[in-house]
Amino acid sequence: MVKKNTCIFISGKGSNLKNLIKKSREYNFPINIKLVICNNKEAEGVMYAKKNSIPFLIINTNSRSFENKIIYNLKKHNIYLICLAGYMKIMSKRFLFEFRKKVINIHPSLLPKYKGLNTFGRILKSNEIKSGCTVHYVNEKLDSGKIITQKSFFISKQDNEYDLRIKTQKLEYLAYPEAIIKIFKNINT
Ligand code: GAR
Repeated sequence: MVKKNTCIFISGKGSNLKNLIKKSREYNFPINIKLVICNNKEAEGVMYAKKNSIPFLIINTNSRSFENKIIYNLKKHNIYLICLAGYMKIMSKRFLFEFRKKVINIHPSLLPKYKGLNTFGRILKSNEIKSGCTVHYVNEKLDSGKIITQKSFFISKQDNEYDLRIKTQKLEYLAYPEAIIKIFKNINT
């Protein structure tokens, strides 16, 4: 199997990054993580790139040319897939046009419900019975691209925001690898 060169974008803890690094070491898993990009120099998740000797790039999104820098590095590493994993920044239309390859994201709700931030608080406030996570293609609109995979669980009456986060992330560690396998199912031989 020819593994696809992949870049993971993060902004924080990086637990999905950690999980994807582990999965990518499996012989049959279709990606190789060649680059990690982070827009927060304090992000804990960068340590997973360091520990695993994966090149990483810290970007300053206040700088006007930051997207050019990202594109340059994606080309340099011959990146075919971008996985956003807790990357808290919207991709511009221009960036998506320039990159032209696949960009996917994981979001902690059952999209199209609860796009955007503060997901868990809003879910509890609405007395939802179910919640979960979604992996989807990225377009220029927030959390709106085509859905690849969703996983759900039942919310119990005692659940607080912390509980929802733990339950959701447990499913994310299954959903993200599953979505990646799904999108390459018909490409690899
Ligand atoms: C994940 O739960 C992901 O769904 C969420 O950020 C968390 C990152 O966790 N993403 C969003 O809210 C995007 N809108 P991690 O840094 O431990 O992987």
